[in-house]
Amino acid sequence: MGRLLGSRDTHLLAALLLRLWLGSGTCPCENPVLCNPISESREFEVFVFDVGGKTWKLYDWSQITTVATFGKYDPELMCYAHSKGSRVVLKGDIPLKKIVNPAARTAWINHQVALAKRQYMDGINIDIEQQVKKYSAKYYALTALVEEMTEAFHKEIPGSQVTFDVPWCPECIYKRVYNYTGIANSCDFVFVMSYDEQSQMWSRCILGANAPYNQTLAGYDNYIRIGINPKKLVMGVPWYGYDYTCRGLSKDHVCSVAKIPFRGAPCSDPVGHQVPYKAIMKQIVPRSLSGILWDKEQKAPYVEYKDPWGAFHQVWFDDPRSISLKAAYVKKRGLRGIGMWHADCLSYSGDSAAQGQTAAMWEALKPK
Ligand SMILES: *[C@@H]1O[C@H](CO)[C@@H](O)[C@H](O)[C@H]1NC(C)=O
Ligand SMILES: *[C@@H]1O[C@H](CO)[C@@H](O)[C@H](O)[C@H]1NC(C)=O
Repeated sequence: MGRLLGSRDTHLLAALLLRLWLGSGTCPCENPVLCNPISESREFEVFVFDVGGKTWKLYDWSQITTVATFGKYDPELMCYAHSKGSRVVLKGDIPLKKIVNPAARTAWINHQVALAKRQYMDGINIDIEQQVKKYSAKYYALTALVEEMTEAFHKEIPGSQVTFDVPWCPECIYKRVYNYTGIANSCDFVFVMSYDEQSQMWSRCILGANAPYNQTLAGYDNYIRIGINPKKLVMGVPWYGYDYTCRGLSKDHVCSVAKIPFRGAPCSDPVGHQVPYKAIMKQIVPRSLSGILWDKEQKAPYVEYKDPWGAFHQVWFDDPRSISLKAAYVKKRGLRGIGMWHADCLSYSGDSAAQGQTAAMWEALKPK
């Protein structure tokens, strides 16, 4: 980024532009009608992130209203989604310092609109997870970006959708202070990333759920309290969990982790890594010491296992039970819909146990 283009890059770029120019205007779908953008909105939004590959063919299309493509552009996915009346949207991300200048901002927006048009897409999901100080140049530029992006998309692609990803609660993430009300009011809706809630709230030296029930709901109550209409909020649930290595594991399921004070916090971040739901079910649960346990306070499942080197692990995740509880809140609070990071965390293999688990995860999104 930022370096001058070499002549080789310039040639590659020219070749790419030529290909795009030659390619424009050719609808890749068998039925050309499927290249038309989706213009009707459904009352309940089911917002899905796709990270690439071909497993999208086995998603539960009866529910999906929007697919945000965070993998490579796949024309086949676009045609298929449109045949189901579902939108396909771009991923939008750029270093904020590059869009502080209004002309540069407009240029980037125009580029996104042109890209979406060329690929017959229905909007953009803006995923900017950068540090911003309140009332800084970037703070104002970001609000303006969302407003201008929405205006441009709505004008150029009628019925298109512009959304923005926000953290699980406003002002709960270190140095990520945005004008959330300004952003939510100007775009179609925000996708609330109700996960990774421990990494930011790490203070108790006790492991917890990726998205504890109460804390997750409190995030929405906060967004509504600062003036955001519930119909502008889509709940994002995790289809992955965290695997933590414990220094010790007590009988009452306390997994102790290293206590190294870090920047004033009493504990250091525990050693943990993300695991998709399919791996938890296929590899971790069968090795667990006592099957899936349930934490009543956080309303979340977890499992414990011992690795081949003798260390105990505690794995926190979300399953149909914990997700159904959150989906019920979506309905009760009148939110716009639900979605997940990300759809490819489930198994789409022929294995019948996996098929049942995958179907149950999709089913859990439906508010009962
Ligand atoms: C947030 O953005 C809106 C719309 O641009 C603006 O009216 C409002 O004053 C901003 N609020 C803050 C706190 O910056
Ligand atoms: C969760 O919230 C409810 C309602 O506000 C409260 O009654 C309950 O004690 C809370 N539970 C925990 C574990 O914080």
